[in-house]
Amino acid sequence: MKGIILAGGLGTRLLPCTRVTNKHLLPVYDKPMIYYPLGTLVHAGIKEILIVSGKGHAGHFLELLGDGRDFGVKLSYTVQEDPGGIAQALGLAEDFADEGRIVVILGDNIVEDDIKDYIDNFEKQDKGAKLFLKEVPDPERFGVAEVRDGKIISIEEKPKQPKSNFAAIGIYMYDDKVFDVIKTLKPSVRGELEITDVNNFYVNQGIATYEILKGFWSDAGKFESLARASDFVRQKERPAA
Ligand code: G1P
Repeated sequence: MKGIILAGGLGTRLLPCTRVTNKHLLPVYDKPMIYYPLGTLVHAGIKEILIVSGKGHAGHFLELLGDGRDFGVKLSYTVQEDPGGIAQALGLAEDFADEGRIVVILGDNIVEDDIKDYIDNFEKQDKGAKLFLKEVPDPERFGVAEVRDGKIISIEEKPKQPKSNFAAIGIYMYDDKVFDVIKTLKPSVRGELEITDVNNFYVNQGIATYEILKGFWSDAGKFESLARASDFVRQKERPAA
């Protein structure tokens, strides 16, 4: 399976730090943010990875990560010309995916779990998608999954009154139909093609499975969550004596 890291967007929630650089290049403790989602894919054995970044800083990703040889993988790059949402960014990966299955990770998601077994489970799945949930205290900040009898029955993007505490986190596994689904999407009220709409397509077809993450997870898109992610990495790398 090929991997895709989505690292576009304006990072407005981290201004002024994102005025002259991309959010995914900011440090999470001792490494640039993008090292973590890249590490998640590399450790899971993914060998070909596409990085989708925004305009303005695309060359910085290339200078930082090169062709991927330092990580034992092959890296490719593309640019999302205008920030039109996560699903729009993913749509740019159609040629790269080459009709195969893909694992997608958002560039600001810091994940402790090894996802290799989850990828193996998805490979055994006949078709559809696999989504990932984590119980959080503040679900209204995320896509929120309503789960019944071992199935996701709906996902709501940033609901005011969440139906559960399960955030749909930023790892997604899709079959080759995902690009057809993206082509049918209409922009949301915030003017973006939403990954939640892609996921709900699979949920409504009854072909979305899920796993609940065991270890730490955080996004790092706001100062609070960036600090939490940095603290986690610091403590993990230097465990208390
Ligand atoms: C995005 C997705 C949301 C998901 C989150 C995970 O939100 O839209 O469904 O729960 O990533 O990090 P955003 O970071 O764009 O607010």
